[in-house]
Amino acid sequence: MDAIRIERLTKTFRNGRKALDSVDLRVQEGEMVALIGASGSGKSTLLRHIAGFTASDPAPSHVTLLGRPIQQNGKIVREVRPIRRDVAFVFQQFNLVGRLSVITNVLIGALSLVPLWRRLSGHFPRGERTLALDSLDAMGIGEHAYERASNLSGGQQQRAALARALVQRARIVLADEPIASLDPESARRVMELMQTLNREHKLTVIVSLHQIDVAMKYCARTVALHDGRVVFDGASDKLTPAVLLDLYGTAATELLTPDVAESKPSMRAQSASFASVASAASS
Ligand SMILES: Nc1ncnc2c1ncn2[C@@H]1O[C@H](COP(=O)(O)OP(=O)(O)O)[C@@H](O)[C@H]1O
Ligand SMILES: [Mg+2]
Repeated sequence: MDAIRIERLTKTFRNGRKALDSVDLRVQEGEMVALIGASGSGKSTLLRHIAGFTASDPAPSHVTLLGRPIQQNGKIVREVRPIRRDVAFVFQQFNLVGRLSVITNVLIGALSLVPLWRRLSGHFPRGERTLALDSLDAMGIGEHAYERASNLSGGQQQRAALARALVQRARIVLADEPIASLDPESARRVMELMQTLNREHKLTVIVSLHQIDVAMKYCARTVALHDGRVVFDGASDKLTPAVLLDLYGTAATELLTPDVAESKPSMRAQSASFASVASAASS
């Protein structure tokens, strides 16, 4: 089954800006897909439409998650909660409540599975607590479970957000530039853990990224956006510097800033050619 099915998705903002232009995209269950594109290309807008945070333009725009429509005819479906429960969203700016403990933040992820009065009273079922601790352990931050979320580093907060996806029992993770505010080592850790969610926990992942080298390292498939249109959808290793230059012109430089230090020799060779294309593009 398709985890995500998008047909002719178009979004025109009130100011007339067409942020998505007839996007077609199908992602199968179990895939991990990178979404790349320069700033303003429509990555966040696309992810927000998949999650059903924002309504699209009217027909023919259509988004279906795990066989259930979430957007149709320019409206988010009325019965959206059971669908959203399957989707975990990870934001670039860590979205934990700073004054609450890490485990409480993670348990809030189980929100729709726990009755309201229990949530308000802070009484979560024992099973949920156990799952939350296990999930924090799986993401390597179990020892921070009872600390205030604000004490965690950015990377640790993103790992808590990933733990929340497990507690929520999400089937799809949508991550909007989750590593953009992280140092390289934390970024690597977060990408590896998303890979764990994908491979071991069988979650479908779409992750928007600013840098093509990261997409190539972690995702077999990359979808590239430019001005709200899908300009590439295929094997990540087919996105050579030349292809990128062709797709983006001088804007390709923005995507070609590899972290040479941590990359493998083969990647380093590629990085060198990225760098030369980048400088060619900017000159
Ligand atoms: N709420 C909004 N109102 C008007 N224009 C918007 C709004 N949100 C985004 N845009 C515009 O839509 C385009 C795509 O933005 P966005 O999805 O944030 O791109 P990305 O995430 O790739 O940087 C940009 O031109 C942006 O300025
Ligand atoms: Mg964005």
